Amino acid sequence: DESTRNAEFDKRIEEGTKIEPKDWMPEKYRNQLIRMMSQHAHSEVVGMLPEGNWITRAPNLRRKMALLAKVQDEAGHGLYIYSAAETLGASREDLVHQLLIGKAKYSSIFNYPTLTWADIGIIGWLVDGAAIVNQTMLAKCSYGPYSRAMLRICAEENFHKKQGYEIVCTLMKGTEEQKKMAQDALNRFWWPTLMMFGPHDSDSPNSATLLKWKVKKKTNDELRQHFVNITVPQARTIGLEIPDPNLKYNEETKNWEFGEINWEEFYAVIKGHGPCNKDRMKARNDAHENGSWVREASVAYAKKKQGKKVE
Ligand code: ACO
Repeated sequence: DESTRNAEFDKRIEEGTKIEPKDWMPEKYRNQLIRMMSQHAHSEVVGMLPEGNWITRAPNLRRKMALLAKVQDEAGHGLYIYSAAETLGASREDLVHQLLIGKAKYSSIFNYPTLTWADIGIIGWLVDGAAIVNQTMLAKCSYGPYSRAMLRICAEENFHKKQGYEIVCTLMKGTEEQKKMAQDALNRFWWPTLMMFGPHDSDSPNSATLLKWKVKKKTNDELRQHFVNITVPQARTIGLEIPDPNLKYNEETKNWEFGEINWEEFYAVIKGHGPCNKDRMKARNDAHENGSWVREASVAYAKKKQGKKVE
């Protein structure tokens, strides 16, 4: 019965056995994963927009090729994660529809504009860096298909991060104007990057359940702190200043303590009122409409092929 199955499930989680698509799982576990994985997949896809904005304006061919490949990787990540969500019985069409009508969430970070080339460096370094911190943990999560998708994604994200940091290092070795450009990009993206990890643990309604089921292995605040600890030295090494007057090192805890995040801004952005939410949704809807002929053609082709087989 239900309670025995629940107890068996909890035992498997306790032992660290991966849960696979055909295994029994509580509906709440399934729904939490669909929620989280679909938000994640949407983030990968919407995340192509801010950087895609600079492909035509990359400063040289090497940079253009790297950026093009990176943005294409993000599309691939979106596809893996949609496929992983489908193993839970979610329909991809439905998930995409929820995004297009503005009901589904995607990461707050992608609602900020990319104003200069330095933003591309800062995003690769910080945003992909934050994603790695979060996803290295998710690679150990209890749901098999999600954890395996994360392994490959993290390997690719590491290249993205190096690509970004290298852009920023190059700018910091450049002219005063280039250094200023890098500092300005850091100033604009630092706080929104910290928001990627989600609300404080005390304000995170989903954390308790996700931790219990080992979907999350660390809390939002723990991951955010870890990210700050690894990023502050990277910034200092190249002469960038973190835009936080309250930042200070605590010798005892070995943590870089930081100031309070503007949570009002965070909630405004996730409710659709960030600087670029409307542009992002319009871009996704336009792309979906413009791609309708591809979907129609592939359905027609599949039907034709099936017909031939029957003959
Ligand atoms: N942007 C948008 N929404 C957010 C963000 C954020 N940065 N942080 C939290 N939220 C949402 C949650 O999705 C949740 O919404 P819902 O309950 O309506 O679905 C709500 O705010 C409350 O937050 P939590 O209870 O803390 O949510 P959760 O436990 O799911 O933790 C987190 C949020 C850390 C983002 C988690 O879902 C996660 O690790 N997701 C997978 C990774 C991911 O999506 N990364 C995307 C960016 S990285 C990239 O794409 C390159």
